[in-house]
Amino acid sequence: MTVQAEAPSGHALHAQGVRRSFGSVQAVINASLTLTPGTVTALIGPNGCGKTTLMLMLAGLLRPDGGTVEVLGHDPVTAGAVARRGIGWMPDVLGMWDSLTCAETLETFGRAYGLPRNEATERAFAMLEKVHLADLAAQPARVLSRGQKQRLSLARALMGDPAVLILDEPASGLDPRSRIELRDLVRALASEGRAVLISSHVLSELDEMVDEAVFMSRGVTLGESADAEVARARARWRVTALPGHDVHAALSQAARDWSPVEGADASVAVVHVADADDAADLLASLVGQGIRISAFGPVGSALEQAYLTIEQERR
Ligand SMILES: Nc1ncnc2c1ncn2[C@@H]1O[C@H](COP(=O)(O)OP(=O)(O)O)[C@@H](O)[C@H]1O
Ligand SMILES: [Mg+2]
Repeated sequence: MTVQAEAPSGHALHAQGVRRSFGSVQAVINASLTLTPGTVTALIGPNGCGKTTLMLMLAGLLRPDGGTVEVLGHDPVTAGAVARRGIGWMPDVLGMWDSLTCAETLETFGRAYGLPRNEATERAFAMLEKVHLADLAAQPARVLSRGQKQRLSLARALMGDPAVLILDEPASGLDPRSRIELRDLVRALASEGRAVLISSHVLSELDEMVDEAVFMSRGVTLGESADAEVARARARWRVTALPGHDVHAALSQAARDWSPVEGADASVAVVHVADADDAADLLASLVGQGIRISAFGPVGSALEQAYLTIEQERR
C-alpha cells in the first residue's frame, strides 16, 4: 500500500481543492485525491470528517462550492449524465424498495440507466451472480441479511458497468465472514480495471483490501504527511521476550530508538526499525545475546498507526 503524494497520469478520477459547506458547517474544506484504474483507494477518517460529503461530490450527486472534479475526463456536475454513468455509487445507508425482489431491484436500476427491459433483466442476473446472490434473486430485498444487502447494493452500483466505483463504508456492520467476501469482491472488481474508492472509519477492516490510502481529518485530505506517517508506522515492531529477560537494557545498549509498553515489564518493548532487513538483524542480535524472544512483529495495522499519529498531531 502507498499513500498518495501526486496525481499519476492515466487516472480515472481526479479531485483538486474540493470544498463544500452546509450553512455554517464546513463539511469539506480542502480535499484532493486521484483514483487509478485497477486500484483500490481507501478514504479513511473519523465520523463527521467529511467522507460522505466528499464522495457525494465525486459521484456528481452534490455540487462543490469550489475546486475541481474530473471523472474520466468530465466534470460530473456540468457533464452530468456522461460523467455520472461512469460512476457506481454505493451509499452507506441502504435505500431499497423492500417490496421488490433482488432481481427487480436491479432491473429497475438498469431501466433507469436506459437499458431495454431484456438487457436490464440479463444484466441484473449477471450482477447477482457476481455478488453471489443468484440464489436469492426471487426473494424480497427485505429478507436479506446485512451482508447480503451490502452485496445487493454493490450489485446495484455495478448495473451501469462503471469504471469508477465509490463505496461509502460498505464494511460497516458486517461480520468477519461477510467482510472477507466483500474484500474479495472489491479486489475482483479492481482487477477488472475499475478504480475503487472505499471509505471507512474502522481502519483494520481496510488494511488488506486497499492499495492506496487517503486520510481525511476535519474536512481536509492529508497527502504527503500521511505518506511519512505510514512509513514510520510500518517501522514500529514489538519485541516480547520470556519473563525475566531485559529487552529494555539490550535495546538501550544497542542504541536503538525504543519505548516501553504500558502495563508490561522490561521483557516487552516497541522498537523502531529501518526496514525488514534491519528487523531481522535486530532479532539476530538479541537472540545472539541470549535473550529468549517469544514474539517479534510490526505493531498493529500500519493504517491504524498512521491514523492515530495524524489524529494526535492535529488535536
Ligand atoms: N446535508 C447536511 N446538512 C448539514 N450538515 C451536514 C450535511 N451533511 C453533512 N453535514 C455535516 O458535515 C460534516 C461531515 O459529514 P459527513 O460528510 O457525513 O462525514 P463522514 O461521512 O466522514 O462521517 C458533519 O459535521 C455533518 O454533520
Ligand atoms: Mg459518512
